[in-house]
Amino acid sequence: MVKLTGNEKVNIAVFISGTGSNLKNLISHSLKKKSKFRISLIISNNPKAKGLNFANKYKIKKTVINYKKFDNAEKTILKKLKKNNIDLVCLAGFMKILSANLIKKFNGKIINIHPSLLPKYKGLNTHERAMKNNEKFCGCTVHYVNSKLDSGKIIIQKKIRIFKNDNIEKIKKKVLKQEHQIYPKAISKVIINL
Ligand code: GRF
Repeated sequence: MVKLTGNEKVNIAVFISGTGSNLKNLISHSLKKKSKFRISLIISNNPKAKGLNFANKYKIKKTVINYKKFDNAEKTILKKLKKNNIDLVCLAGFMKILSANLIKKFNGKIINIHPSLLPKYKGLNTHERAMKNNEKFCGCTVHYVNSKLDSGKIIIQKKIRIFKNDNIEKIKKKVLKQEHQIYPKAISKVIINL
């Protein structure tokens, strides 16, 4: 249980693998005066992830995890989370699946953003599949992480209309814009219950 009193803030670790636009957006929110959280750690499995540059820019601790040996990778992750007193893990484009064991150890404290209207289109290439199926709507979801892929309890979801002249690129852009709206809101909702 994390009790927030006065100026205390929730310590968040953001896990990335690529661009890190969600990470950048969360950092911006964390820097607002009234923010209840700080980004204390950035973890990436990919040493070339563009998002790691935000660690240097904003002087945030970063760790690149070598996933050649899965068990070692997760041991290092757990150690880093403990060492940095992390209260909440936010996955943002992290392309590795966490083990049931790690999820259990951080039960209810790992959330993820996914570019679809879950429970529809779990996994990859969500927009491609939605368009192929002539869906009228696409969207994004922030959800708790459990041991089944993209299946944990939904925290916030945003629905976006797909128009006839939309293409994958347009949809990706529209959805990402909404991701940046809902992820900070989801964090605000979640940290009350940590
Ligand atoms: C986002 O679309 C997110 O929903 C998905 O991966 C993408 C990450 O984008 N899980 P970015 O690295 O935050 O720009």
